[in-house]
Amino acid sequence: MFLLDVVGSWPTWAASRPGRPAVALKSRLHELLCYSILSGCGACVVLISKYDPATDEVTEFSASSCLTLVNSVNLCSVTTSEGIGNTRDGYHPVQQRLSGFHASQCGFCTPGMCMSIFSALVKADKPKPGTEPAAPPGFSKLTSCEAEHAVSGNLCRCTGYRPIVDACRSFAADVDLEDLGLNTFWKKSCADIAKLPEYSAGSVCTFPEFLKSEIKSLVPPTVITGDDGGWYHPKSIGELHSLFDSDWFDENTVKVVASNTGSGVYKDQDLHDKYIDIKGIPELSVINRSSKGVELGAAVSIAKAIEVFSDGTPVFSKIADHLSKVASPFVRNTATIGGNLVMAQRLDFASDIATVLLAAGSTVTIQTASKKMLCLTLEEFLEQPPCEVKTILLSVFVPDWGSDNVIFETSRASPRPFGNAVSYVNSAFLARTSGGTASGGILIVIEDICLAFGAYGVDHAIRARKVEEFLKGKSVSAQVILEAVRLLKDVISPSEGTTHPEYRVSLAVSFLFSFLSSLSNGLDMPANSIAPNGSCGNGVVNGSVQSSQEKRLEVASDYLPIRSRQEIAFSGEYKPVGKPLMKAGVELQASGEAVYVDDIPAPNDCLYGAFIYSTHPHAYIKGVNFKPSLASQKVITVITAKDIPSNGENVGSSFLMFGEEALFADPISEFAGQNIGVVIAETQKYAYMAAKQVVIEYNTENLEPPILTIEDAIQHNRYFHTPPFFIPNQVGDFDQGMSEADHKILSGEVKLESQYYFYMEMQTALAIPDEDNCITVYSSTQMPEVAQAVIAKCLGIPHHNVRVITRRVGGGFGGKATKGCHVACAVAVAAFKLRRPVRMYLDRKTDMIMAGGRHPMKAKYSVGFKSDGTLTALRLDLGMNAGISPDISAMMTMTLIGALKKYNWGALSFDVKVCKTNVSSKSAMRAPGDVQGSFIAETIIEHVASTLGADTNAVRKKNLHDIDSLKVFYGEAAGDVPTYTLVDIFDKLAASPEYKQRAAAVERFNGGSRWKKRGISCVPITYEVRLRASPGKVSILNDGSIAVEVGGIEIGQGLWTKVKQMTAFGLGTLWPEGEGLLDKVRVIQADSLSLTQGGFTGGSTTSENSCEAVRLSCAELVERLMPIKQSLEATSGVPPSWTALIAQATMASVNLAAHAYWKPDPAFVSYLNYGAGVSEVEVDVLTGATTILRSDLVYDCGQSLNPAVDLGQVEGAFVQGVGFFTNEEYATNADGMVINDGTWTYKIPTVDTIPKQLNVELINSARDKKRVLSSKASGEPPLLLASSVHCAMREAIRAARKEFAVDSPLTFQMNVPATMATVKELCGLDVVERHLESLSTARKA
Ligand SMILES: Cc1cc2nc3c(=O)[nH]c(=O)nc-3n(C[C@H](O)[C@H](O)[C@H](O)COP(=O)(O)OP(=O)(O)OC[C@H]3O[C@@H](n4cnc5c(N)ncnc54)[C@H](O)[C@@H]3O)c2cc1C
Ligand code: FES
Repeated sequence: MFLLDVVGSWPTWAASRPGRPAVALKSRLHELLCYSILSGCGACVVLISKYDPATDEVTEFSASSCLTLVNSVNLCSVTTSEGIGNTRDGYHPVQQRLSGFHASQCGFCTPGMCMSIFSALVKADKPKPGTEPAAPPGFSKLTSCEAEHAVSGNLCRCTGYRPIVDACRSFAADVDLEDLGLNTFWKKSCADIAKLPEYSAGSVCTFPEFLKSEIKSLVPPTVITGDDGGWYHPKSIGELHSLFDSDWFDENTVKVVASNTGSGVYKDQDLHDKYIDIKGIPELSVINRSSKGVELGAAVSIAKAIEVFSDGTPVFSKIADHLSKVASPFVRNTATIGGNLVMAQRLDFASDIATVLLAAGSTVTIQTASKKMLCLTLEEFLEQPPCEVKTILLSVFVPDWGSDNVIFETSRASPRPFGNAVSYVNSAFLARTSGGTASGGILIVIEDICLAFGAYGVDHAIRARKVEEFLKGKSVSAQVILEAVRLLKDVISPSEGTTHPEYRVSLAVSFLFSFLSSLSNGLDMPANSIAPNGSCGNGVVNGSVQSSQEKRLEVASDYLPIRSRQEIAFSGEYKPVGKPLMKAGVELQASGEAVYVDDIPAPNDCLYGAFIYSTHPHAYIKGVNFKPSLASQKVITVITAKDIPSNGENVGSSFLMFGEEALFADPISEFAGQNIGVVIAETQKYAYMAAKQVVIEYNTENLEPPILTIEDAIQHNRYFHTPPFFIPNQVGDFDQGMSEADHKILSGEVKLESQYYFYMEMQTALAIPDEDNCITVYSSTQMPEVAQAVIAKCLGIPHHNVRVITRRVGGGFGGKATKGCHVACAVAVAAFKLRRPVRMYLDRKTDMIMAGGRHPMKAKYSVGFKSDGTLTALRLDLGMNAGISPDISAMMTMTLIGALKKYNWGALSFDVKVCKTNVSSKSAMRAPGDVQGSFIAETIIEHVASTLGADTNAVRKKNLHDIDSLKVFYGEAAGDVPTYTLVDIFDKLAASPEYKQRAAAVERFNGGSRWKKRGISCVPITYEVRLRASPGKVSILNDGSIAVEVGGIEIGQGLWTKVKQMTAFGLGTLWPEGEGLLDKVRVIQADSLSLTQGGFTGGSTTSENSCEAVRLSCAELVERLMPIKQSLEATSGVPPSWTALIAQATMASVNLAAHAYWKPDPAFVSYLNYGAGVSEVEVDVLTGATTILRSDLVYDCGQSLNPAVDLGQVEGAFVQGVGFFTNEEYATNADGMVINDGTWTYKIPTVDTIPKQLNVELINSARDKKRVLSSKASGEPPLLLASSVHCAMREAIRAARKEFAVDSPLTFQMNVPATMATVKELCGLDVVERHLESLSTARKA
């Protein structure tokens, strides 16, 4: 019997919805709750509630449904976001507050966010034994700090997290409501809990009474113990062994699972159809505490273990601390300690838990396949050969070390301070010391020591025994540490193929140094010279010595609550345009009711597809076969180029007139990751599984070697042509400019790598064949019109046979422009051929491998300048890797140079080579070209300033344009004097007294802090956008409701909200309470056959283009309706109501639909956007971790159409830019194949990596009637502001290089992204040794 209650329906992201009623689940018992992503990104978080009939208690916890097998929630209740609130029953305050704080854009992450917050509230407000003070009315017992941690495992690519944190903190009893950001509940300085949607704990029933009764009636509770859909649930070790011994057991198809979160780590191994769930075995769930220590059954969850350890001696508390950085809350709630240790033992998993428990002297009890019980030290267990599947880990025992003379520290260096990222290195050290007095003070002697290291590219955690032996009996001095470090470097030897091996070694050194420093007694070294600055965000060292001077200067960078300020200019001129209204449909997004492509119920007979892609960059495809496996039996067919109709063409995408890209590799694969075919199966799961089992035969005979890099392409002259009208003019005479220079830099260089979109909704489409060779394709695309054209061409049918429908897109960022076409086209070919509906939802890995992403670039520059910093000439030679097809790359020179021209270079000459290579074609990604151009400009300015020894901001300021030079560089786009606001904006930030004070404070800080350095920098930006023709259609229905269609797609950028506002404004003259029309407006999905010439969504101006088309349509309607209004008014003496007006117009057969195609004035097709950003960062010299302490952004948004939407765009773009500049490594292998292909290796910003303080000001520059209601774009330009973080990091690194006398301290090349490893390398991998050597030398002298 299987019992499960679902409160709400399955969240919107589920690729293969298991269905709502339990009956549907019954047939899919071993499926995942959501078989979508397997990534632990948090989008599919649900609340699981369990009922214990013995105690009548319900326990609730959040879990990731993509990692949860359906059968593991037998007898549970699962609450989804729709379960806590929805359109029918009303929304929950979590959903309402997320909506009111403008915390949802594309909305794809929002149900998961809701459930993480809701779970945190449930946990905080659960009645606990004893008397705990109640939370103030309207609040939860949740603290602000817990609120931030609540969403620490949830990824959001749109918002930049700040508003999400605000919504979450609005429940926290310790919050100052005035600190919360822009919202719809109150105006500035009027914060009041009573204005927030009321929260009262326990208002949602998470476990229904009927299920309790059902469970109580199962005496003893019935569980599945036999073969029931392939799910086995032994109740004892004996039963487990019987299962192992049965004929039925086969290691290849049967998986032993505890909580199955390991499938989020080893995704490709998920090919089983039978499971043995060991969680029901009582021995595996024991928790025994005694004076000797703590014994934990292997199936105890990490969250439970944290609870147990938190309540103990210092060693236990440190273990708990470290464990709370493992994975994310919703993974820790189910993931077991045993599962983790077995993964470490059997699969070389880079476990934190193994390292920490190893240092704590733990032992494990296992039972082997031959039923032998063994008690081993954890070290012995880890060192055994990988244990067999039938070996069961029963428990782990961690001794109690008491607190006397025992020092225990743990560390981990990972890109995310709160966890949710595997570490580069982790360590745990335990020392037993003795102390006596000596002439200079206390003398600490190490009696015994255990040094454990893991995750550095080693099979499993190890003990550094040689170092331990050396340290035993020693008192710590600089010389002793130096010797220990040297010995350690022999021990830590990352295996072949490990990324950043030297960095990892240096991290291990840093950790040891930090620990030993804390044991030093100050006799051997001057105070304050050796101790690192306490704990740090990413390379966390739990506690250490810190001098009082450092303490005074340091603003702790750890666990600072996120603070923010928003200054926004409102305009009432065009009401309701200009109001910070809530996003259209946001509550639907929060509740999970919003329908994305994959939420459309599968039509009858629907089939599912998964791409098969090449792993070879240049080879003939000779054959496609499958490994004999369960999955291969499920393959219905494979669709390849041969299935394209004879009158069709092998085309998967195209853009403007630039050229096309093939849909299928045929006969040659031209890059690793190229689509070879689509496996078709009955379910998405089988399609995924089969695609993983494919074996492709290649042949490289008579083929040239692939060209993979910019250098290769330049050597072979392989370029894409850029049409002359996409090449900006060069300015002035470079040679003459150089001859006027006092100084010249002749060979500067900088490199920027790629970036992946990381939209939360993967590429997806559903194709349904229709009569008469027609087809309807639901596609998550930014350009339905282009998708329509490509599909038609591929199938060889007229455009009018193809209907592409897009309602909303779960994040695009450019990735669902040309790249979305491939998916739409592939399902269309399959559906056309098979005459059955076909849908496809890419898994994250395939998506990342095929997506392409941002263009990598390599720039060389020569620049001339005067001694006062005035630039006289710049020559830029740049190569960009465009990949195999032209895509949008012909536009890149224009955008790149456009943003670079923000400074007056004197003369500007450039040569940009758009290189054709055998890698996936690069496409538009938010601010394509502009972000690189703007950054390259900053690199050159910094180079100039450091050469002159001048203040960088002074050099920036000196070379900002005046209006005359602006016109020279930008021509018509420069606009009029009042619209050129950049100099004012820059001054406002960089020339303010506050900036000067902060810069001085940074300098003081750096003077007093050796191991942490700060930097501050202010960066201006200029961004040219282009207006495009766009259609709009406004239809008033008989009841007065209004349906609006626009060419643009709602991708999270707030297009629908602005369009609604514009419609109400446009029709407002017909009704005195024009704002009241807002509720009557619905923007409907894009349909390529309903509204034609939709164009594409991109380039930041789609909202204003669409709004303008809507305004024209409204003007047309006003013209038709005004006479009727006037006549009604004349008759009755009062203005008619809206319904009366429309009723009368209907009677008079007035055409109530108006369609317009807006075209920009040829004299005004582009304009410039301006902004500046100051960022202050702190770099940890020991780990390379960067904390962004504060960012202040000022952006000229013109007369904003909706300041809340634009603020969201500014913050979201900035944080996406932070990811690009600091952490996102879209790495490839030697064949150009993406290898950082999932959440495991690709780290977008999370709530703990955004600025601790984020202040944004939207300024309203002079009115400019030529722009749409004087508004400006906001989608892409603010992304460029994130280079201020990179520039500030450079300043901090410069300070570190000065401190440690690293070679060429002032001038150094710092590429993008500046990851932790890069930062540490630039600070000096050997700074610890340098420092210790200098101390030892000083002491000897
Ligand atoms: C998103 C994410 C982030 C993570 N981050 C970290 C991190 O930062 N640091 C870290 O250390 N870990 C991290 N993990 C790993 C996580 O701790 C493990 O996935 C988890 O502990 C495994 O427990 P489980 O119960 O889900 O095991 P399962 O997935 O059920 O099992 C894992 C493996 O162990 C076997 N197994 C399980 N229990 C036993 C047993 N008692 N005896 C024998 N074999 C057994 C299973 O057969 C399977 O092969 C992360 C995981 C995810 C998904
Ligand atoms: S709103 Fe969070 S991913 Fe789009």
